[in-house]
Amino acid sequence: MVRLNKYLADCGVGSRRECDSLIEAGQVKVNGKVASLGQTVADTDRITVRDKRIGPKQKLYYIMLNKPKGCVTTVKDDLGRKTVMDFISNIKARLYPVGRLDYDTEGLLLFTNDGDLSNRLTHPRNEINKTYVCRISGILLESERVTLEKGVVIDGVKTAHAKVKILEQDQHHTRCEVTIHEGRNHQVKKMFETVGKEVEFLRRVAIGDLRLGGLKRGEYRFLNDFEVDYLKNM
Ligand code: URA
Repeated sequence: MVRLNKYLADCGVGSRRECDSLIEAGQVKVNGKVASLGQTVADTDRITVRDKRIGPKQKLYYIMLNKPKGCVTTVKDDLGRKTVMDFISNIKARLYPVGRLDYDTEGLLLFTNDGDLSNRLTHPRNEINKTYVCRISGILLESERVTLEKGVVIDGVKTAHAKVKILEQDQHHTRCEVTIHEGRNHQVKKMFETVGKEVEFLRRVAIGDLRLGGLKRGEYRFLNDFEVDYLKNM
């Protein structure tokens, strides 16, 4: 049992004094009955403030996975394929992936149960940069590189300005670094398709300044406080 004002404060309703004021004002109910000052409650009690149910703050998790190829970015797959969740274990929270990588794309994928952060990172308005390294068939000409940077039409809509850097090239392949801030379906592959090139390999290496680093394929790690703050403020 715990005092009601402490329970409310721990749930983020306000300071204990503010919670006392709410109780005094008759705005707090325990199991449907108006609560009184000094009352104690148990976890099993149904507590409401202005008729809105209050529960303990859930612990928020922020995780980075190096997604391997050959798994779908979904919590559950109706076709029974391997999903990215198969790589995350022992976490007692309903985590979900932030955004999506294709079945055959590897690299940096975030997971969280923080809905606000997930929305921020995926909302197109926020123009969060995502950086990919890819290998494409053939030689990417300078004119094609510039075309991709300026924007190409995919699915009837022009892509926003992108950064495309050629990392190395031989007669058969080009390795590029591509930074985009939209998150359209198969965007990188479709961009290269417009200049007649096939993406043979695709890895996301960064979201903003948050980099995959040396994390091994199929492994995950918790973000540190600095990284979480960075994502919340970017
Ligand atoms: N662009 C793609 O084409 N595929 C991905 O998985 C991510 C970006």
